[in-house]
This record gives sequence, C-alpha cells and structure tokens, in this order.
Amino acid sequence: MMDRDVTPVDEWRLIEAKPGGIPLGVAETLFAQSNGYIGMRANPAEGRDSAEHGTFINGLHETWHIRHAEDAYGLAREGQSIINAPDSKAMRLYIDDEPLRLGNAEVLDYERSLDFRDGILRRRFTWRTPGGKNVRVTSERMVSFQEKHVAVMSLEVELLDSDAAVAINSQILNRQDGEDEYHDSDAAQGSELDPRRAETLHDRVLNPTFQAESGSERSTLAFRCARSKMTVACAMDHEYTVTTPDGEAPFIEIDQRTEQDSAQVLYHVNAPKGTVIRLEKFVSYHSSRHVRGEELAFRCARTLNRVRRIGLRTLQENQKEWLERFWDRSDVVIHNQPELQQAVRWNIWQLIQASARAEFQGIPAKGMTGTGYGGHYFWDTEIYVLPFLSYTSPSFARNALRFRWDMLEAAWSRADELAHDGALFPWRTINGMESSAYYAAGTAQYHIDADIVYALMKYVYATGDVDFLLREGTDLLLSTARFWMSLGFFDAERKEFQIHSVTGPDEYNTVVNNNLYTNVMAQYNLDAAADVIRQMMTERPEAFREVCHRYNLEMAEVEEWEEAAAKMYIPFNEELGIHPQDDQFLLRKRWNLDDPEAGPKRPLLLHYHPLTIYRHQIIKQADVVLALFLQGNKFTDEEKRADYDYYDPLTTGDSSLSAVVQSIVAAELGYGEKAIDFFIRGLYVDLANLHGNAADGVHVASAGGVWQSLVYGFGGFRDYGGAFTIDPRLPDEWEGLTYRVTIYGCRLRVTVRRRTVEVVVEEGDHALGPIHIAGHEVIVGAEPITIVVGERPEHEPPAESEPDEEDLARIAEQADSPSDASPPAAPKGTGMQGDPAESKTAKK
Ligand code: BGC
Repeated sequence: MMDRDVTPVDEWRLIEAKPGGIPLGVAETLFAQSNGYIGMRANPAEGRDSAEHGTFINGLHETWHIRHAEDAYGLAREGQSIINAPDSKAMRLYIDDEPLRLGNAEVLDYERSLDFRDGILRRRFTWRTPGGKNVRVTSERMVSFQEKHVAVMSLEVELLDSDAAVAINSQILNRQDGEDEYHDSDAAQGSELDPRRAETLHDRVLNPTFQAESGSERSTLAFRCARSKMTVACAMDHEYTVTTPDGEAPFIEIDQRTEQDSAQVLYHVNAPKGTVIRLEKFVSYHSSRHVRGEELAFRCARTLNRVRRIGLRTLQENQKEWLERFWDRSDVVIHNQPELQQAVRWNIWQLIQASARAEFQGIPAKGMTGTGYGGHYFWDTEIYVLPFLSYTSPSFARNALRFRWDMLEAAWSRADELAHDGALFPWRTINGMESSAYYAAGTAQYHIDADIVYALMKYVYATGDVDFLLREGTDLLLSTARFWMSLGFFDAERKEFQIHSVTGPDEYNTVVNNNLYTNVMAQYNLDAAADVIRQMMTERPEAFREVCHRYNLEMAEVEEWEEAAAKMYIPFNEELGIHPQDDQFLLRKRWNLDDPEAGPKRPLLLHYHPLTIYRHQIIKQADVVLALFLQGNKFTDEEKRADYDYYDPLTTGDSSLSAVVQSIVAAELGYGEKAIDFFIRGLYVDLANLHGNAADGVHVASAGGVWQSLVYGFGGFRDYGGAFTIDPRLPDEWEGLTYRVTIYGCRLRVTVRRRTVEVVVEEGDHALGPIHIAGHEVIVGAEPITIVVGERPEHEPPAESEPDEEDLARIAEQADSPSDASPPAAPKGTGMQGDPAESKTAKK
C-alpha cells in the first residue's frame, strides 16, 4: 500500500525518508498535529513549499450567507467555515542571506518523523547551501495535550564546516487574508468541483484588533472575524542558546517587527564553524465567541509565562507520560505485523488528536488537520469516534456528548422551524445551526438524532455514568423521542409507525420513505427514552418527578413512544429475504459497478448529476449493513447474510465511512477475505490516499472505524444494551490480536489467538461480568482466564448475479405495497434493567 523506500516501517512512528517523497498536501495531513483544540498541518517551518497552510482552532469559524438560487422556507441560511488561525509555525532560516527552501535545496540525510509516543514531529537533514557550506538542521514541533492552548517548536542549526551568517525569522502570520512574501499558491483550494472541500471565503475574514510586543522576543496579535465576530489571539515567545566550539558567545542581534497581519522576531548571528544555534518557540492561542482580543492576548501572556517556566524539554517529557497512559488504555496490537501495526497506531493517533482537548467543541470530520467539509461536525463523531472514546477515554466521550447537549437550544428551535416537536440536530455544523445547504443529503438525514442517542447509551453502558444519563441524557432522550413522534406517523389502522421523506446514511438515495437504518435507529431511540423514564420512575423518583415537571411529561406519552417503537415499520422483502433500504429502493434500475464499459465513473458524486445517481440501485456507503452492525441483536444471522450479500455488490464505498463497517459485518458473517480487504481499505484510506483527497484532512470517521473493525470486527466484541459478549474472528493470516476496553472504570485486556481468547482485568479494583465469551459465561478479574474457541466455518459470499426480468417484476410488486409486507418481529429495543452500575459488575 505504501512505498517503503519513502515511508519505512516503524511500529511507533510515521516516517518520511526522502524530502518530497510523499505528495505535499498529503504529507501535510499525515504528519499534522493537534490536541483537539489547536491543529497544525505539517507545513515546514520555512513556509515553503506548502499545498495548504493550515493552523486551526477548534470552533473558530467564519459565517457567510448561503445564497440559494431558488429559495425555500427553512433552508439553511448561514454557512460556517473553519478558518485559518494566525500561523505561528514559521521559523525561516537564512545562511549567508540564502533562504532555506526544501523544494530546491541540496539536502542530505533527510528524515521527517511523527512519533506517536510523544507526539513530536521531528525533522533533520544536512543542507548544502548554494555557497557550498554544510549545515545540519534539526527541528521539532509539538502541540501539547496537557496545555490545551500551547504549541512549542524548536529549530537547531549546526555549522558543520564553515563560518556563516545565520538568520532565523520567527513569525506569526495571518494567512487567512494576507499572503506570505512568497505568494504561495494555495493549491488545495483549487476551483474544481468537489463538495467535500471547504467553501472559499473571498472577503477579508480576520480584522486585526490588537498587536503588542513585550521584551524583545514576545509578540501578540489579535483578530476578530468579520461576520461571526469570533475573536482569536496568538502570542509567541522565544528562548535561544548559542554554543560555540571555543565557548565564546557571539553577538546575537534581535529585531522585532509587529504589524497588523504579521509579527516577526529576527535573530542574526555571525557564527564560527562548529556553532550550534538553538531557538525554542512557545506559542499560545485563545479564542472566544464573546471576549475581546485584548483580553485574549492577556490570557495568552499568562499561558506563555507559565509554560516558559516549565520549559520546552519538560513539556515534551510531560507529553510523553500523558501519551504513555493513553496507549496503555487504547493500544491495539496485531501480533507480529509491523506494517499493519504502524498503520493501526497512526489511525488511533488520529482519534486522540481529534478529540482530547476538543472539550467545549465538537470533533470535526477532518479533525484539526485540514479544511475538508468546512471543519464541520457530523454524525461521524457519534457513530464512528465515540465508541472508541467511551471504551478508552470516557471523559473525552462525555465532553463530546455534553457538547451536543449544549446545542439543544438550537436543536429545539430548528425542530420548531421545521414544524416538529422536540429537537432536530443539525446534519453539519460548527456553531449549532444547520449549515447544510443541500437539504436532501443534509437536513433530511434526521438519523443524526438517533445516532446521538445511540452514542449516549453506549457511553452510559460502558461507564455506568448514571448522573450524566439523568441530567444531560434525559434531555437528549426526551427531546429526540418527541422529535421522532412528530416526524413519523401511525397508519390509519394504527398497525404500523412509518417515517417518510428522510435520507439515511447512504447519500445516493435521498428523501425516501422508511429508510431501514432510520427506522431501526428511531425505534432504538424511542425504546431507550421509554426505558430510561420507566427506570427513573421506579429507581430515581425524585429525578423522575423533576423531569416530568420540566417537560410536562405524562406516562401516556411514554406509552406512545413504546407503541411507536413496537410498531415501527421495518421494510422486508419476502421474495429476496432482505430488508430493502427504503420503500422505493428495489424498484430502481441496477448499475453494474464492475462493468468497465457501462459501469459508472467513480466517485459518482464527482461525475454525475444527483438525479442520475438517485435513479439507480447504487449506494454510496453502508446503510442497511450499518444497521446490521449497530443494531445487530435485532436481526437474525440469516437476515444479516442475505442483506450483506445483496448490498455488497451495490456499494460503491465512495464514502470512507463504508469500508470499515462492511469489514465488521463481513467478519461476523465469516467472510474472512472480504473482512480483511475492507479493513485494509479503511486502514490505508489516508496513508495510501485511497480516496484521493487526503490532502484535505484526515478521514477521522474511518480512523474510528478502523478501531471498531479491530475490536468489534476481528475482536468480536459486542455490547448490545450493555450486555458484553466476545466472539472473535481472527483473520487466518494473523497470529493474534490484543485490545483493551475500559468498562465501569476497569480495563479489560482481550488477547485473541487462533484457538483461544484470554481475558484479564489489567487495571481496576473490581471484577467484570458476566461476559459471554465464545459461548461461555465468565466473570473476569485480575487473574487471566483463557477460553478455547471452536473452529469457525469460513464462508464465501455468493457470486454476483443479476435478478432476471420476472424476479424484478415480482420484487417491484412487493416493494410497491409496503403495508402488505409483514414486518419481521423486530426484537424490542434494548434498555437498562436495574441500576446499570450494579447490574453489570460483580464486586470482588
Ligand atoms: C458521508 C457522510 C459523512 C460526511 C463527513 C460524507 O461523504 O456521506 O456520511 O458524514 O462525508 O465525513
């Protein structure tokens, strides 16, 4: 998948062994660093060459008026785009007035690496200057996990064989509006069509509000966004050392220049051969919706004072310890597979980068690594990232859920605007308002409400955080349950509850009736809300009374939710024995994906008008198949197999959210080869740039899916309704797999080998259980338990065949009359019984 001369294998690092070995924009993404609050693309310190300069502060965005050529009531009005925060990465180097520019420099012994154990991006090489002098250049950059507002970097220059005049120009630059002195073209913002890219903002965004210098080495700039009125301040401070062979300190001249769009601190020194000049740079960012730039600048100063006292080396050490603890609870090991291991860790690294300090913000689809999708938050967080966080870093999962809860006000208003009850969360957003201009593939994805509830319940089942459930959780449950009741309806005989005019996860079939995924997830949502309220009634009467009072809730309403859930229409086609994706799906024309002549060009969304796509039986991403995974206890094995077999050939995988899900379900069905194939596609989606747009930022949802493929797919972990089971499917070519999940504060280590599963509580003070492992019920404690796993049959998916004309006519007839099809008895949604904190753990 990767050129190993350029990116050699290292289980803990991503390495670029040749300058320019990886395409520029892709490398900027792959080596990008973030703590979830500050994000920095891996642009070189010298500024050039860059495909897209990127420095991001989570939540810092500009708004713009969406001009709909044909307007309609309730369409999203305000676009939101993540913006380029002032760039503090620049530390330009000049030797005898010649600027270093890697693109045309003569460079020896080059290596750039990102180490997942300390989060430091390192670069070292020897530069043979145009004047023939050899200079060793070493640089480091780190965005701090412990200090949310801080990044630190260093540049070290060693004159190997000559005296030289050395100049280092350390800068903060407003790249959102200004251009740097090289007029770098912004290649990634090209004008060609790609809806996955961010909107380009043409008007000035960042208006300077404050500039300051302090001492000769500290500078601060502050700005306010023209429309969103958000403010941001960035400050830098420095520390230098010069070491000469004879110990004589040469004279260092420092110039400082601070303007509205840039701040510079320049160091000049005429140094003898053998001198080492080291410049350390401390950077702080603060941003706000309300606070003035001057106050933010003051906060930056406070932060800088503190971290300067700590010192760069100690900050690096602290980060290493922080990450050691992270890996202890989150690492997944594929035994003796260094290549895969490197890629697995890179993906897990993306998850922590995107989420750790997001705190009062969401987790953008691209993390903080690029401007793709405008920096928006989608359902990607809840379905793809939160399971990982809930089982490895639950406090980060809680923050992300709290952030959704914080949006409730806007979600209530949005539901009201669309004539619904309860809350409707935006399909894509930064500030809580719907930002999806194309409602068919946006607002109509109402499933976002149920996705949030799904993530909430998973978090609660994993942690037993009943307090959160009773406070924020009930708000989310009630508001979404009410929403579904007003969106869906009972048929005339009150036999079925149907939901019309929705879009499921598959964006190639929009505004359809009874999308299977949506109905199944809404059913889950309604059941979860009813179960929690009933449980509160008996076990937390005070909290129950309070919530009933606040929401004017009566049990008759809860009974309605239960009835709607029980009667939820689940489309099923007897003839094919499958769940149609929606009421119209089976009527559509098939489009053979593999036909080189008549088959479509990929990805479809870049080559065909939406209407061309919509009239075909073709899907962008797992939809029914995703439901089979998320709500797997509601489907029989036979149904799962039939559904998977039907949808697999129709799935383009044009969304990176698909392969990982297909891998999990394929693994469950015993389709070993498919499972591995889809896993590899998810694993390398960015590392091998499989979708061609890694330059726009990391596919964070896919990274979350990689973890899920390992833990749920091959690791066989399931947690329906907080009942934990492990039924692994180790690929033939793997010796073993080790993963960890933290449940109720206890860390469970699971090691899967060919014929055994070993489980142990490796951290925590109580036993866990009962857990069903390969059919055995066990209570797991500090002593490892080994369970023998029976041989598993491998299955082959059927060869693809097109249904003939007669078949199609019959199918169409059935699909036409959804009410005639008898819905399979969907098992009742899951819920908690008793206090989850008591029922799922057995004390030692
Ligand atoms: C997918 C969505 C996803 C979005 C952001 C789209 O291509 O179809 O499901 O939420 O990308 O990752």
